[in-house]
Amino acid sequence: MDGNGRWAEQRGLPRTDGHTAGEQALFEVLDGADELGVGWFTVYAFSTENWRRPVEEVEFLLRFNEEIMLGRQEELHERNIRIRFIGRRDRRVPRRLVRRMEEAVALTRDNTGLTFTIAFNYGGRAELVDAVQRIVDAGTKRVSEKTIARNLYDPEMPDPDLVIRTSGEYRVSNFLLWELAYSELVFSEALWPDFGRQHLYTAIKEFQDRDRRYGGIVDPGESIG
Ligand code: IPE
Ligand code: MG
Repeated sequence: MDGNGRWAEQRGLPRTDGHTAGEQALFEVLDGADELGVGWFTVYAFSTENWRRPVEEVEFLLRFNEEIMLGRQEELHERNIRIRFIGRRDRRVPRRLVRRMEEAVALTRDNTGLTFTIAFNYGGRAELVDAVQRIVDAGTKRVSEKTIARNLYDPEMPDPDLVIRTSGEYRVSNFLLWELAYSELVFSEALWPDFGRQHLYTAIKEFQDRDRRYGGIVDPGESIG
């Protein structure tokens, strides 16, 4: 969800107003994905690198995420959405926020609709380091791709088919490094607060027009011959 700060700066507003405006975009896009029958929807809310921002912005984002969890969990629960988190639970994440996350996860645990995963204090490299550490701690001698995949933050989360990066940046920025090996990447010029349902549809259309060959010569989703 990139571009909140620039959206605000363009309007002469403090950067944090951009994050506030981004909340609406988030829930609109989530609604759109849910209506389309998307099963897994993941957002990058706060990265392991975002701690480098000014302390006021970091504090704002921590509080903001806590408020979103508090304010939205009931509504999401009623819509049969299952909430999950991926990321590192280190001491920098306030205990109150961790408790809110745990509440939201517990409340929605048995829901059978869309799984809404929030990547918070998430870094792709950190995730791999944490997975390797767990594997070492377990005394595992032989490692396969499955061993790594089983030790990621959410082993049940399927690799994403589509990753959308907003705000005209063309980088992966440490997002789902392992998981996006064969994901289709779609880039949008829209700043996150301007990103809406139509942008989601455009991105999905672009995804549908791609040929996915996974290193082979035919798209396994297409019939051969
Ligand atoms: C939101 O956009 C991403 C978060 C970390 C919440 P940015 O805050 O990165 O916005 P820009 O890139 O400065 O415009
Ligand atoms: Mg940014």
